[in-house]
Amino acid sequence: MNLQDIKKVTVIGSGTMGNGIAQVFAATGYDVTLVDIRQDFLDRAITTITKSFDRIVKKAAMSEEDKSAALGRIKATTDLDVAKQSQLVIEAIVEDLPVKLELWKKLDSLCPAETIFASNTSSLPITQLAAATRRADKFIGMHFMNPVPMMKLIELIRGIATSDATFGLIKELSVKLGKTPVEVNDYPGFIANRILMPMINEAIYAHMEGVGTVEAIDEVMKLGMGHPMGPLTLADFIGLDVCLAILEVMHEGLGDPKYRPCPLLRKMVQAGYLGRKTGRGFYTYQS
Ligand code: CAA
Ligand code: NAD
Repeated sequence: MNLQDIKKVTVIGSGTMGNGIAQVFAATGYDVTLVDIRQDFLDRAITTITKSFDRIVKKAAMSEEDKSAALGRIKATTDLDVAKQSQLVIEAIVEDLPVKLELWKKLDSLCPAETIFASNTSSLPITQLAAATRRADKFIGMHFMNPVPMMKLIELIRGIATSDATFGLIKELSVKLGKTPVEVNDYPGFIANRILMPMINEAIYAHMEGVGTVEAIDEVMKLGMGHPMGPLTLADFIGLDVCLAILEVMHEGLGDPKYRPCPLLRKMVQAGYLGRKTGRGFYTYQS
């Protein structure tokens, strides 16, 4: 398949990442279908995309007409069958291995053999996800960063069987989307989260041990290290459930106790304090 053969894209999972991914594809001219298991999540995703486009229009980086055209290219449905009409399927559902494996198995039987499969997983083995399909050569990790419309990076992760043709095609596509792809090998957490998550985890330990308040820890890292967001603000932004899932994958997959998730993080996830998306994490948020 060549770049010009990709016309329709299906994005599965319309949460924090899925809506941003759909937005970027639609802004680049692709027809995008967003799929989720819940209609209310799809409705929320369209609202988020509209607001994000509004911010871009406000700073004159996009016209009203282009915004309307891009929004018109996005469809939303709970029917997974639509995936068979697209040339590329990107999965951005919960960071849970059995759930992802089940979805990929289903998609493999649904989609034509030539459809390219990409997972936006933050940490799970691309090789193992690909092995749930009969097209491991056409399977790749396409790890966008949050917020997708703003962040330039895409980690491109090769599974053991990812072909050079698939890698080259998705690399070309990433550039077309205005992003900078970086090639990464398939190890738990890849590069981004291998380095980011221990810092976030340590910030949570520091808070749990009373080294500083939430605000103090964030202020130190913002003013002292020039980070755009403090680590606890960033954890809320990513989602505390996502942070915990990534740390678990690295802890188990790399077998090193340095990745042990902080008990306070676990407790907050158990309480349903997942960060921005539930209105409460280390901070509270109005929707
Ligand atoms: N859509 C459109 N525009 C957006 C936007 C969105 N979703 N979010 C921010 N913006 C724009 C704003 O409109 C604003 O534009 P102007 O400066 O032109 O006016 C600009 O971005 C800056 O926004 P703000 O002033 O509101 O806030 P900020 O200066 O703090 O920037 C940020 C926001 C770009 C998100 C910045 O805080 C940042 O870079 N934070 C760190 C993000 C990060 O580390 N992401 C990686 C997370 S880890 C990950 O993704 C991997 C994983 O697997 C977990
Ligand atoms: P989220 O919790 O915001 O959204 C997940 C969505 O997937 C929900 O809307 C849920 O209803 C939907 N979903 C769950 N099972 C489904 C299924 N079987 N079929 C269709 N939809 C299903 O999660 P998120 O933060 O967007 O993360 C999605 C993926 O992206 C994860 O693999 C995560 O690790 C990765 N990721 C997250 C971030 C981040 O900062 N949050 C950054 C990069 C990558």
